[in-house]
Amino acid sequence: MAERLALFATTARGTEDLLAEELKELGARRIRQDRGGVRFLASLDEALRVCLWSRIAMRVLYPLGEFEAHGADGLYEAAASVPWEEHLTPDHTFAVEATLRESEHSHSGFVALKVKDALVDRMRGTLGARPDVHTRDPDVRVVAHLARERLSLSLDLCGEPLHRRGYRVRPTPAPLKETLAAALLRAANYTGEEALVDPMCGSGTLLIEGALIARRRAPGIARSFAVERWPHLGARAKELLAELRADARRHERKVLVPLRGFDKDPEALEAASRNVKAARLSEEIQLAEGDATRPFPVPEGGGLLITNPPYGERIGSGGQKGMKAFYFKLGENLRTLEGWRVYVLAGNPAFESAFHARPSFRRDVWNGPIPCTLLGYRFGSTAPAPEKTGSEPALGMAKQALDVAPVRPEHEGEEEP
Ligand SMILES: C[S@@+](CC[C@H](N)C(=O)[O-])C[C@H]1O[C@@H](n2cnc3c(N)ncnc32)[C@H](O)[C@@H]1O
Repeated sequence: MAERLALFATTARGTEDLLAEELKELGARRIRQDRGGVRFLASLDEALRVCLWSRIAMRVLYPLGEFEAHGADGLYEAAASVPWEEHLTPDHTFAVEATLRESEHSHSGFVALKVKDALVDRMRGTLGARPDVHTRDPDVRVVAHLARERLSLSLDLCGEPLHRRGYRVRPTPAPLKETLAAALLRAANYTGEEALVDPMCGSGTLLIEGALIARRRAPGIARSFAVERWPHLGARAKELLAELRADARRHERKVLVPLRGFDKDPEALEAASRNVKAARLSEEIQLAEGDATRPFPVPEGGGLLITNPPYGERIGSGGQKGMKAFYFKLGENLRTLEGWRVYVLAGNPAFESAFHARPSFRRDVWNGPIPCTLLGYRFGSTAPAPEKTGSEPALGMAKQALDVAPVRPEHEGEEEP
């Protein structure tokens, strides 16, 4: 392998620039944003640091090649041209995972099968023996992505996607991916130096990710990575990761700010509490039952309130009308939080007008298949003027007085005030 690896880190759509910033901080070079991910160059050491420390990346891939692949034979021929013997031995197990976009094939399993056949035949031809498939826990994970007739083949350095930090022991119906939660916190400029509140915390993802930031804890500290089992790089990767993990442990610090979560559903709170415990953050995060549409106790001195309210896709009673009434009441309540930065991940198009306030920040992001907007507000006499687009103004920026003005009906749908 070359000294610097050309890698591709995947991320939720709409967060590519946030990942690019993070990769730069982690030492990556020649960073280029792409749809759904970021390309970059990194030494093995830097690549492993990304696996351990990236809060936003979902996977870190080592691309092996891109090919035009027409039909089943085209897939097979493309995959057979990859020198798999440089990355695998007959004694290691592997699995192929395929994803499709606008492809002539309708089943990702079929594409994975063609790649697997080609890999096995090539290994048998070159080494006289083939590696076995192990779908659940392979040594080497091959990722095939077919966009129309363009096939990309990569090896996955992480194995389990990076959002699996290991702390989600009790899921709730609509949890945020850990990596998306971390991206939203970064978009809101959360650095762990101020109080954090989520009044509809569900399984606690935003709070736990906020606490990891505040503790300066590496998000991947409790897990291993596939690259540690690679035939040719595994031993070196293990050694380097042991150093990186030890270094990360030394850099953890105490959390000095309050982190508080509420939810009106006791089951969600129970799940959050188990997840918080699994993340070893019970001392840092306080949870309590609460209704986000009524006053709830926030810490003194302001901070960041960030939340993702129900989008309404599972709403039982009241339908969309009920959701609008809920968002309106939420707006009325959150508007009383003077000195707080309020960020809402809205997945229901009716949210913004029903919430009845002008955002000073907006960013379109995808929560899986759901197009959402992260909206930022500042309420009260210390709020700065609304931003046009993009990201939160740098902390410490001069503040201009602006009282929140409710959005008048004729302004609905306008870009920004
Ligand atoms: C989309 S989920 C939040 C998911 C969460 N971010 C996570 O990662 O698990 C919305 C949450 O809002 C809670 N909720 C709905 N109405 C509420 C209200 N009026 N007050 C407090 N929580 C509420 C629900 O119980 C649910 O847990």
